[in-house]
Amino acid sequence: MSNTYLDVAIETAFEAGQILREEYQRPPDITYKGDVDLVTQADKRSERAIVAKLSKYFPEHTISAEEGLGHQRSAEFRWHVDPLDGTTNFAHKYPCFSVSIALAQNDAVLAGVVYNPISNELFAAARGEGATLNSKKIAVSQVSTLAASLLCTGFPVHKRRASNNIHYYYDFTLRSHGVRRDGSAALDLASVACGRFDGFWEFGLNTWDTAAGIVLVQEAGGDVSDFDGIPYTLGGPVVLATNSHIHQEMRQAALAISQRDPSAPLPSLR
Ligand code: IPD
Ligand code: CA
Ligand code: CA
Repeated sequence: MSNTYLDVAIETAFEAGQILREEYQRPPDITYKGDVDLVTQADKRSERAIVAKLSKYFPEHTISAEEGLGHQRSAEFRWHVDPLDGTTNFAHKYPCFSVSIALAQNDAVLAGVVYNPISNELFAAARGEGATLNSKKIAVSQVSTLAASLLCTGFPVHKRRASNNIHYYYDFTLRSHGVRRDGSAALDLASVACGRFDGFWEFGLNTWDTAAGIVLVQEAGGDVSDFDGIPYTLGGPVVLATNSHIHQEMRQAALAISQRDPSAPLPSLR
């Protein structure tokens, strides 16, 4: 059953990816939703194509899509769609962005795809059936300590000054091999799923940023929770996704960071 959903999600992601490749050749056409929250013609064209295709195949399903072309109604089955995750990268011609499409049944994600149309990498997963990269099975890394890990995170485009994440970024950088900030949460999660990164965390992500990525990580053998270890729920305030081996260590570090006074000078960890 979910294979049919996954097949449609894959076909739809390829179609949207073709639109993003075309738009990538053109001068960027940027408008602003907030002071650094960019939206381009590409976001809108991609979303229009995705919503049209999903609505045609599954008229009884509902769609949450970032640029607002989805549906308002509730339904047992909901698609979570980010038509262009990494708009800032796209607008600056940094080739790290993706299409992210997932299907959830009553908030349990059944299937998801994340597609980078520039590197032509298609990550796909269906619940209980494993995760793949360009049709080959993938698995999370075997790195067993935070000290030997490569991590990634992201920063919000809304209310940037209210975010404490720079403290987590600082601390995790000193506790690991390093922390990357690649600018596409969906690709960050896909990179945990295929073992390029050992862990990822971010605050304040939307359901369309995480839905596909979390099923990829889980099906590749990883763990996804909040910093208290409570299983991640779509739209939760923080997501921690790891290869599972460094999950507890990352949680403990996050707890120590959260207990520090954010206005105090950054501590020297070594
Ligand atoms: C953004 C990206 C970025 C994350 C931001 C998101 P957008 O999505 O996923 O990596 O750090 O929080 O808003 O706006 O490019 O779709
Ligand atoms: Ca996004
Ligand atoms: Ca987006």
